[in-house]
Amino acid sequence: MDGIDQRQALDYNSVSGIKAVCRLYPRSCGGALEDIVSLTPIGAPRHKVTVASLREKKFQHEPITCLTAYDYSSARLIDEAGIDMVLVGDSLAMTMLGHENTLSVTIDEMLHHVRAVRRGLKDALLVADMPYGSYHVDAKEAVRNATRFVKEGGAEVVKVEGGEKRADLVRQVIDAEIPVAGHIGLTPQSVNRMGGFKVQGKTLSDIEQLMRDATALDRAGVSCIFLEGMPREVADLITNEVSAPTIGIGAGPGCDGQVLVFHDILNLTFGPPAKFVRRYGDAAAEITHAVQAFRADVTSRQYPADNESYHLPSETRQALEALLERKRVMRGLRGQISVVE
Ligand code: KIV
Repeated sequence: MDGIDQRQALDYNSVSGIKAVCRLYPRSCGGALEDIVSLTPIGAPRHKVTVASLREKKFQHEPITCLTAYDYSSARLIDEAGIDMVLVGDSLAMTMLGHENTLSVTIDEMLHHVRAVRRGLKDALLVADMPYGSYHVDAKEAVRNATRFVKEGGAEVVKVEGGEKRADLVRQVIDAEIPVAGHIGLTPQSVNRMGGFKVQGKTLSDIEQLMRDATALDRAGVSCIFLEGMPREVADLITNEVSAPTIGIGAGPGCDGQVLVFHDILNLTFGPPAKFVRRYGDAAAEITHAVQAFRADVTSRQYPADNESYHLPSETRQALEALLERKRVMRGLRGQISVVE
């Protein structure tokens, strides 16, 4: 081991041991040497986004990027494009499953998508939405369900909607070693209570409540707070008040980061976009064009072409032709015999 005392290097409680390993694996030791406690080399280190690096981004005033993803291929493309966080949002109830709102999606349905997204991600932080009903009964059940997202889905953070009234539950989930993201403002799981998907925080008392919600979550130790559907001035106040990074959606440019729904930015939502959505592509047009072209090629027998087909090796083809020829001859002979009879 390059003259380094192996026992010392493998003692992760010893700073000198860590320093020794950092000399061995310098690229694994990007942070403070004392912060590195795992000495197991696990492949080439990349720029893995963590809850700590999100806070660092807030501190450095570097915008945080987040998109939703619900399957392997989109997750992989998003990760490879360098997005910081991927949210498996319960919005998948609407975008992927065609429901009217997010209320009916189950833990098992969410987990199915979280596992697929997990397989597509390398660097981005994986946040999983806890669906409606999975944390509303009591904190014990919330911890049990949050644990499923980590153990069965590979989530690194779970997200729950609601502010002040969730603070205790958030603490208990964090006590179970599971980072939690908060979500306040327009919280889609409260659609029936809110009377629709409406911008929140428009009156002084609502602003006061949102500030209480944000500070309660911050004190409870959330890793970040999603701010959805609120005036930009309110999001600015919250962002300046809390130490957790704020991730806005329809909350103006002052948040520490921005999240949008994958299907919204690609025009895959079959309706007019909300005011805050910016479309970065038209996947609906691309997909429709490709599907129509495929249909036209099949119905006009232009697909598949010869170079899109597999071929027999020449000896097998010759043997097959000889066999078929023998069969033709035999059939012809049998026909002549039956005529004579
Ligand atoms: O479910 C979701 O996609 C979300 C984002 C809109 C924040 O919660």
